[in-house]
Amino acid sequence: MSRSARTRALTNIGTLVTNDPGLGEGVLGVRRDAAIVFEDGVVAWVGNSADAPAADAGHDLGGRAVLPGFVESHSHLVFAGERAEEFAARMSGEKYAAGGIRTTIEATRAASDEQLAANVRRLLDESRRSGSTTVEIKSGYGQCTRDELRSVQIASRFTDEVTLLAAHVPPPEYAGRADEYVTMAVDEMIPACAPHAKWIDVFCERGAFTLEQSRAVLRAGVAHGLIPRVHGNQLGEGPGVQLAVEMGAASVDHVTYVNQADIDALAGSSTVATLLPGADFSTRNQYPGARALLAAGVTVALGADCNPGTCYTTSLPFCIAIAVRDMHMTPAEAVWAATAGGARALQREDVGSLRIGARADAIALDAPSYLHLAYRPGVPLVREVWKDGVLA
Ligand code: NIG
Ligand code: FE
Repeated sequence: MSRSARTRALTNIGTLVTNDPGLGEGVLGVRRDAAIVFEDGVVAWVGNSADAPAADAGHDLGGRAVLPGFVESHSHLVFAGERAEEFAARMSGEKYAAGGIRTTIEATRAASDEQLAANVRRLLDESRRSGSTTVEIKSGYGQCTRDELRSVQIASRFTDEVTLLAAHVPPPEYAGRADEYVTMAVDEMIPACAPHAKWIDVFCERGAFTLEQSRAVLRAGVAHGLIPRVHGNQLGEGPGVQLAVEMGAASVDHVTYVNQADIDALAGSSTVATLLPGADFSTRNQYPGARALLAAGVTVALGADCNPGTCYTTSLPFCIAIAVRDMHMTPAEAVWAATAGGARALQREDVGSLRIGARADAIALDAPSYLHLAYRPGVPLVREVWKDGVLA
């Protein structure tokens, strides 16, 4: 490897997670006493610390753990206002209902572009501090062409992973007329917004959109070059998982209430099951059955699902801790799901691992091993974040 002004060696790493089984132990490809070299924003070399090649700049990790940056594949960051009172009422026994989304639609429509962009920036900074180096951002709190369009345009200033959540909940002016809303979305909103997005998403759930309505929205998105993803099976059993598989969706997200046919369908597909335990935590819902999904061979991702209604956290370390403690995922499974799993859900091969040639997106923990992410819940362990080889 050439020694140029652009190389940086991270040495004396206590535990390095590469997610490349060819580079170390197990599915996480773990190496001890390791070093990694970044060159021009990508991973150029991985090996023993003692063998690290000379680089232009060195950085001694002092025995700390280094992991790939988290890949956050599910977040709703374009919104205004907050719903702390709704959360408090839920904690006193009220049930979550999708209708709460309308409160945020009203606030989002009333906000300026600058206010919305400032909120996205604030939440992305927060998410970066907890280790997320790739973040998908959804629209979905406009639910009319004007406000969905500005939502995807604002999101696209911050990420390449923009999702048009064209059908989140029928807005107030379409109350009781969800079919007409879908017709408007198909004829007008999706064609207008598609040039600014990569993904099309729907909330296929009782109280939101039916199977037929959701399918129509996804098909219109596909016709305009978008790739489907689905919010499904969050609040009860339903057709979301099967629709996602039928449409060849990149992922179906939540997957909290599934039956064996849903699990079998996912196992026989390329659709990732993205579990969002932060939402189940903050709605006091049951947690997804991660063990059954993993046992069937389903690819599982973990997302934080930051949104003002069901889950106002940006922290994937928090979700990893829940996944381990309450969903019985091993720490290795949970870390894989929040890194490589998120990358699969976004159909990205350049992030989510520290294999040679991957983007130099990495985090250093104030801990000797990735195990501490679940072992020390609630502690801000992410000490350094490297994005494209540069300390962020
Ligand atoms: O992922 N499930 C639908 N959408 C969000 C919740 C949105 C809200 O309540 O504002 C979710 O949980
Ligand atoms: Fe969501």
